[in-house]
Amino acid sequence: MTTTDLRKRKLATDDKPAAGNRRKGSSGSGSGVTGGRGPSGLKLSFLCLVVSVVLLLFVFGVYHLYKIKHKSEPDPSHQPILTKPSTFHPVSMPYHHDSLHVNVMPSKPKPTPEHSLHVDNEYDPTTAGISENASPYLARLATKLGYSKVQYAAIIDAGSTGSRVLAYKFNRSFLDNKLVLYEELFKERKPGLSSFADNPSEGAHSIKLLLDEARAFIPKEHWSSTPLVLKATAGLRLLPASKAENLLNAVRDLFAKSEFSVDMDAVEIMDGTDEGIFSWFTVNFLLGRLSKTNQAAALDLGGGSTQVTFSPTDPDQVPVYDKFMHEVVTSSKKINVFTHSYLGLGLMAARHAVFTHGYGKDDTIIESACVNPIIANRTWTYGNVQYKVSGKGEAADIKSSAEQPVVDFEACLELVKSKVMPLVKPKPFTLKQHTVAAFSYYFERAIESGLVDPLAGGETTVEAYRKKAQEICAIPNDEQPFMCFDLTFISTLLREGFGLNEGKKIKLYKKIDGHEISWALGCAYNVLTSDEKFNNS
Ligand SMILES: *[C@@H]1O[C@H](CO)[C@@H](O)[C@H](O)[C@H]1NC(C)=O
Ligand SMILES: *[C@@H]1O[C@H](CO)[C@@H](O)[C@H](O)[C@H]1NC(C)=O
Repeated sequence: MTTTDLRKRKLATDDKPAAGNRRKGSSGSGSGVTGGRGPSGLKLSFLCLVVSVVLLLFVFGVYHLYKIKHKSEPDPSHQPILTKPSTFHPVSMPYHHDSLHVNVMPSKPKPTPEHSLHVDNEYDPTTAGISENASPYLARLATKLGYSKVQYAAIIDAGSTGSRVLAYKFNRSFLDNKLVLYEELFKERKPGLSSFADNPSEGAHSIKLLLDEARAFIPKEHWSSTPLVLKATAGLRLLPASKAENLLNAVRDLFAKSEFSVDMDAVEIMDGTDEGIFSWFTVNFLLGRLSKTNQAAALDLGGGSTQVTFSPTDPDQVPVYDKFMHEVVTSSKKINVFTHSYLGLGLMAARHAVFTHGYGKDDTIIESACVNPIIANRTWTYGNVQYKVSGKGEAADIKSSAEQPVVDFEACLELVKSKVMPLVKPKPFTLKQHTVAAFSYYFERAIESGLVDPLAGGETTVEAYRKKAQEICAIPNDEQPFMCFDLTFISTLLREGFGLNEGKKIKLYKKIDGHEISWALGCAYNVLTSDEKFNNS
């Protein structure tokens, strides 16, 4: 930590004398600058500044030589000089005025329930200058002299409805080992990997096409130093284990042939805990809230499962949270986070549960009270099975009636309450105390139904979701046959399931500062900062 501290202090002399400069090496320049504020002022200050800069460059030089010298011989004993095993690896985001430092501690590969994403979010304006533009000259100089290096990470999100590649381009500063995110690739392909359950090689091919996108984004010379990871979520979790394993093995073969850096556990089904915590991390990191006392709760609605993650104000008061609490460690404090992935409460899983109500396991021609009677035999695929879904209601009634055919909202609501709400266990009672940030299907359905403006983006309420659901259910809409159900489900999940009041504000996001909201960013940070291979090279 000493080298890092030293540089922080030195950069601080740009605008103010650093306080508490007691470390050897920095004390000289520190007191020099302070002395320069005397009567014979400016000249002396300038001289001291020049001396400081020369000293600084000298230290960089020694540090750089040191790194070059040790690059070829990976000797674990030299690590403590860069960072003690117990210190944090700072990570930061540019273009954001707030909470720039996120340190992710090395995490044990597959830890106990005790979670191991460690975050440092202490705001420190002095080092912010390096990654932001407060000290652009030094940053440029450092770049020119090769004191920052580009680091990429490629994450493939194998979700239930589609696969996505997210590739991130970071600068890692040699000054303080901080990661600065400044470019991102996002590409999606549908359907998801799980729909290739009976044809693993075709499934692997769909991933190969995404890998090609990453190859185009990442310069060839960086491939070997870029971690490549595929994490599958609910879609694969819901498949029979052998089918899921065949798919993962096909992808493992593909990855083994790629020129990227691929670890033993690079391809796996991610557990819901990681998914929730990584998303929570991404949201609060991009919102600059990690340093605040009250982080935003992250609500993620996928196809197969839904995740709720937040930091309860007083977890001790809520014993049911016990088994779902995880510790996220920051340099100044530990944040206790509740997270749970509710399997079966994803939007598509919920549709399936409600639509097939009253039918046998093999029935594929189904009628649902949650679908408008004008919808007849609409094809809908779930879990590799093709259903023909129709609305409930007498066709004759509809024709003879001058009124528009509608969904009986109350009847649909009852179905949703009885079929899917019992799955909300444990109930996140205290979620209502937090700012709620929602994304994925929460966002998409709000946009598609006209609940929020896609450009203005924004904020809605639980009540607005419900009113929109009632409105849509009362209109026959051939183009969005399942919107009535989707909104009824979402509003019921928020109200009954998660216990949010009607007036509760829901902040909807797809991107923050141009970065996609995805667990993948949190995952990339974790891989890059926990693996020594990427940390110290
Ligand atoms: C990252 O480094 C590249 C060159 O290595 C430089 O051109 C770019 O400006 C840097 N970006 C940031 C945000 O520091
Ligand atoms: C859907 O198709 C089945 C068989 O093809 C038919 O019996 C049924 O009447 C159709 N349903 C509607 C609502 O048209």
